[in-house]
Amino acid sequence: MKILITGGAGFIGGNFVYYMLANHSDYEIVCLDKLTYAGNLSTLAGVMNNKMFKFVKGDIADKKFVDELFSKEKFDACINFAAESHVDRSIEDPQIFLITNIIGTQVLMDACRFNGNIRYHQVSTDEVYGDLPLDRPDLMFTEDTPIHTSSPYSSSKAGADLLVLAYYRTYGLPVTISRCSNNYGPYHFPEKLIPLMITRALADETLPVYGDGKNVRDWLYVEDHCHAIDLILHNGRIGEVYNVGGHNEMSNIDIVKLILKKLDKPESLIKYVTDRKGHDRRYAIDPAKIHRELGWLPQTKFADGIEKTIAWYLDNKKWWQDIISGDYRNYYDKMYSKR
Ligand code: NAD
Ligand code: DAU
Repeated sequence: MKILITGGAGFIGGNFVYYMLANHSDYEIVCLDKLTYAGNLSTLAGVMNNKMFKFVKGDIADKKFVDELFSKEKFDACINFAAESHVDRSIEDPQIFLITNIIGTQVLMDACRFNGNIRYHQVSTDEVYGDLPLDRPDLMFTEDTPIHTSSPYSSSKAGADLLVLAYYRTYGLPVTISRCSNNYGPYHFPEKLIPLMITRALADETLPVYGDGKNVRDWLYVEDHCHAIDLILHNGRIGEVYNVGGHNEMSNIDIVKLILKKLDKPESLIKYVTDRKGHDRRYAIDPAKIHRELGWLPQTKFADGIEKTIAWYLDNKKWWQDIISGDYRNYYDKMYSKR
């Protein structure tokens, strides 16, 4: 098989490239990535010399470029990880989210359609379901939960999901969608909660916690997400949505305190700051369908995953220090100085 992985220089896409080359050594993998602020070629350094791997720089929303790539490469499947992925950035400047996340999805699916009805998988998010109340732990997102978005980011992802399902019904494109909860692990860009807190705590800098810190996310180790996508790609039912999550709900403040404890840093580093606009209160995934149909279960317990993640950031300081020494400083000042 020859598979196009878009967004492979980012966090989850990068982990998926490694996962696929390790688990399907006879597959050819082509990674298409625009190398935005979130894309890092250093993430892919370990596979650049693998003869089954090729990197191509380009924009999924650039129709001419994508069409030429598809007619040249003859892909068997396309898995779309490429996206603008940070909620806070979408609140500051929504338009690029619509262009990449919606138009980019449409351009890729048209290329699949006109090059032999290529198998297409959309990497989506639990954020399309909106949020759940803190005082109803019995409630979880199922695949039938109505779409009800809060941020420009989640709205753009929901728009893309609807388009994917429309391409299935209207054109018969063989599609699947996975909607996963919050991932953590190696190569996570340090604007997101866990890597931001690890890297700032290591530098003895304040840790900005939004609002009261009681918002809840359902954390999954990134490799478990990669395994789920692999299963869906090969055995998932066409036209179906699969929720992916490991029943690991934790409040932000508990995560931050745990990281401080593991790094032997004081809780006095915590700084409560103005809340995110429209901040979703709680996410919780019901993964019963992917377990029942595909046998998927998460393999990594949070206690082990967070140890591995912290160890990775300690062992790979160059990777994140290169990132936080560049434009990232301006980003941090812009987003946090007035909070
Ligand atoms: P990320 O921001 O770390 O990486 C995104 C990658 O996409 C980067 O390499 C970037 O350069 C690339 N990209 C952006 N715009 C592009 C374009 N127009 N053309 C080509 N490449 C482009 O994101 P992530 O956290 O790895 O998320 C990957 C996917 O998984 C996204 O679709 C996201 O919505 C989804 N998702 C993420 C999480 C999470 O917890 N991070 C959870 C569920 C779903
Ligand atoms: O649920 C899946 C989603 O998870 C993905 O679709 C998104 O791409 C991904 O970015 C992530 O979104 P979140 O908004 O949940 O992740 P983030 O790491 O930005 O924030 C996690 C929680 O931590 C959230 O409640 C906001 C809070 N937070 C975040 C940052 C960056 C803070 O309290 N302080 C911070 O500085």
